Amino acid sequence: MALPERHASRRARIAHAYNTLNEQGYFTDRIGGNDAYLGSLMAHYVPRDASSILEVGAATGLWMRRVLHKRPALREVTVVEISDAAEECRRRLTPLLEGRPGARLDVVQDDFLEAAARLRPAQVVASSFVADYMGNPSDYLRRLHDLAEPGGRVIAVEVLTSGRAPVGSVSPAMLAGSFLRLCLAHAKVRKLPPVRGVARSMGLYRLPEEPAFKDLQRYTADYTFPRGLWRAEARKYPGAVFHDLGMVGMLVLPK
Ligand SMILES: C[S@@+](CC[C@H](N)C(=O)[O-])C[C@H]1O[C@@H](n2cnc3c(N)ncnc32)[C@H](O)[C@@H]1O
Repeated sequence: MALPERHASRRARIAHAYNTLNEQGYFTDRIGGNDAYLGSLMAHYVPRDASSILEVGAATGLWMRRVLHKRPALREVTVVEISDAAEECRRRLTPLLEGRPGARLDVVQDDFLEAAARLRPAQVVASSFVADYMGNPSDYLRRLHDLAEPGGRVIAVEVLTSGRAPVGSVSPAMLAGSFLRLCLAHAKVRKLPPVRGVARSMGLYRLPEEPAFKDLQRYTADYTFPRGLWRAEARKYPGAVFHDLGMVGMLVLPK
């Protein structure tokens, strides 16, 4: 059945914008993605014995590549990506699953909001910087949680907004504060801070100036996910872990 026009054009515009950004090197090996500085902390929360994983907004598969290297038990992988980067995921991830017994890679090039009902649940459900396209953040987290298998978990890293820092704003002071919090979060889980990753990800901070990215503002302008709401979400899910990383929040929600 054809989508109502407003959904179809939303989907096409988001995909087009990210195709353009990917062509410029964002979320590819050239500039990289958020994986460079947050990927290792996210991967820390993927259980060593997990065999299935689903990632929403996987872009070109940079984070999933990292996780597949670190977690050889993973063999059932689903990525959902609205842009043509989905094909890059397929190219990148297929060889990494070769030789894993029962391996399966599902690449779903679609709007998560349209595709959610037909996705297979997984032990780990991950999302990084995608919530701002998904409407109400609490509803989005609930949808992710619905897709986690019992005993599994959601790992979500998304923009944390404040009155002074709405979505899309970046300043040197915010970056410095976030870096400190990131180091503390790594210390808490006994990991070295991702200094090289942070340096590498500096290229990403040109993103808000890119015309293709600005074109997306109509979809993200209403996104607010302040600290208090992150804490409230953590309280909703018993056993949840919340990392306050300044400009970014991270939740691990058990199921
Ligand atoms: C800001 S990028 C983040 C990429 C990567 N997860 C990271 O953290 O570096 C957002 C990604 O989500 C994808 N995306 C946005 N809206 C989406 C939707 N409704 N369904 C599926 N993917 C979506 C975009 O195409 C893009 O690849």
